[in-house]
Amino acid sequence: MRLQGKVALISGAASGVEGQLMGFGGAAARMFCREGAKVVLGDINVEHGELTAQQIRADGGDAVFVRLDVTSEPDWIDAVAATIAAYGKLDVLVNNAGTGARYTVEETTEDAWDGQIDVHAKGTFLGTKHAIPEMLKQGGGSIVNISSIYGIVGSPTSTAYHAAKGASRLFTKAAAMQYAADNIRVNSIHPGYCHTPLTTRSYDNERHFAWIQERIPIGRVGNADDIAYGIVFLASDESSFMTGSELVIDGGTTAQ
Ligand SMILES: NC(=O)c1ccc[n+]([C@@H]2O[C@H](COP(=O)([O-])OP(=O)(O)OC[C@H]3O[C@@H](n4cnc5c(N)ncnc54)[C@H](O)[C@@H]3O)[C@@H](O)[C@H]2O)c1
Repeated sequence: MRLQGKVALISGAASGVEGQLMGFGGAAARMFCREGAKVVLGDINVEHGELTAQQIRADGGDAVFVRLDVTSEPDWIDAVAATIAAYGKLDVLVNNAGTGARYTVEETTEDAWDGQIDVHAKGTFLGTKHAIPEMLKQGGGSIVNISSIYGIVGSPTSTAYHAAKGASRLFTKAAAMQYAADNIRVNSIHPGYCHTPLTTRSYDNERHFAWIQERIPIGRVGNADDIAYGIVFLASDESSFMTGSELVIDGGTTAQ
């Protein structure tokens, strides 16, 4: 029970439906509940979000779903208010929602650029902005931002994604410095190539998948639980001396 007594809000947490391929947010929501936390799942995918929360409750966990578009400030205000209404406080925020856009610089449209910056950079900023006042009331908290190895190194495409994940990485350090004295820790996670609903279509492309596998020294792509374990650690008091840190979970990809 590493998260006993904690209340968490996780964005992009709809992909936790039993028997289906899971994403980081859905897997983390399930793991958080197993570790004793109460969890609010936020996502634009209402059907899967509701179903995931329902299944967690049926398994004996304590979870509710709220519709949350992370690019909307009013949605964040409502999601934080819903968390306080349901559970009375907020200890942990996981900024996890995301999308992909595998385009070169020349292929990237203004809309694609704005979409990536909005969901990954602005979304992370807005969630953090509205979680912090509740954490200050509580005397502390932990914010976990899901960046990427693509926030650290480049690749042949995904231009706007790289820029947005780099923004999330450095935003993490800015917020960490501002609130360290208030006992609010802010850390980023940098997952490598993982099989989730977000990536499954591109992994069906044999050439692309072979290119990915070649880049992973451990010899396999990751799964949602590989990352959820890291999220639990950064959410828990086990990481109480960590803030502004980058937790890379990538099978060695960026070590070479
Ligand atoms: N899968 C990987 O290989 C990988 C690697 C590095 C980083 N990441 C990042 O990890 C995070 C989770 O990815 P995943 O692969 O587990 O994905 P996933 O398949 O769980 O999909 C992400 C979730 O975010 C939701 N979402 C999208 N836009 C949203 C919005 N505007 N507001 C609220 N929710 C929204 C989706 O509905 C979906 O449930 C993302 O930020 C992604 O960029 C993924």
